[in-house]
Amino acid sequence: MILSIISAIANNNEIGRRNELLWDLPIDMKHFKEITTGHPIIMGQKTFESIGRPLPNRRNIVITLDETFKKDGVEIVYSIDEMDLLLKNTMKENEEAFIIGGGQIYKLFIYKADKLYITHVNAEFSDADTYFPIIDTNKWEKISEDKHSRDEKNIYDCNFVVYKKML
Ligand SMILES: NC(=O)c1ccc[n+]([C@@H]2O[C@H](COP(=O)([O-])OP(=O)(O)OC[C@H]3O[C@@H](n4cnc5c(N)ncnc54)[C@H](OP(=O)(O)O)[C@@H]3O)[C@@H](O)[C@H]2O)c1
Repeated sequence: MILSIISAIANNNEIGRRNELLWDLPIDMKHFKEITTGHPIIMGQKTFESIGRPLPNRRNIVITLDETFKKDGVEIVYSIDEMDLLLKNTMKENEEAFIIGGGQIYKLFIYKADKLYITHVNAEFSDADTYFPIIDTNKWEKISEDKHSRDEKNIYDCNFVVYKKML
């Protein structure tokens, strides 16, 4: 199995504020949908609440410590070990699963991930309260990038970068 992380991060690794995203970037939403459709997506309970519903055409897996948490259309695990076991037992060797956030879950899983799909958003948010971990460039090699300038629908420049863990 390939374990990947997908996130959109600002210049200081900001990813969220008050359990919401920091921007409305349709180009990144489209990118996220293209990359993750057909693959399992794994998220923390707060990110699930922020999205508000399971995303279609993907297995939705939520990690929580709350044993009373239940939602239709969602698989639930209560620990990293349980997550590892679920993926090991249900995924084929070359299938790709995506950690989609948020801050707590990125921190828990970045050490296990094989690839990072990062949208670098060229902006800064001093009132952010949630951050992506530092991407150590001694450990992560950039294997592709795709730069987009701001336009009338997307108010920040962004760069879709894929990093691969160095061996
Ligand atoms: N920019 C982006 O790409 C992006 C992507 C996703 C999310 N976000 C943003 O990130 C923010 C949410 O992130 P967050 O860090 O607050 O929350 P989160 O990572 O989405 O979820 C945290 C929750 O995960 C569960 N959890 C954490 N550690 C666990 C463990 N070891 N075992 C089992 N469950 C565990 C807990 O759920 P319980 O409390 O239920 O126990 C915890 O409250 C929002 O602002 C959202 O918009 C941004």
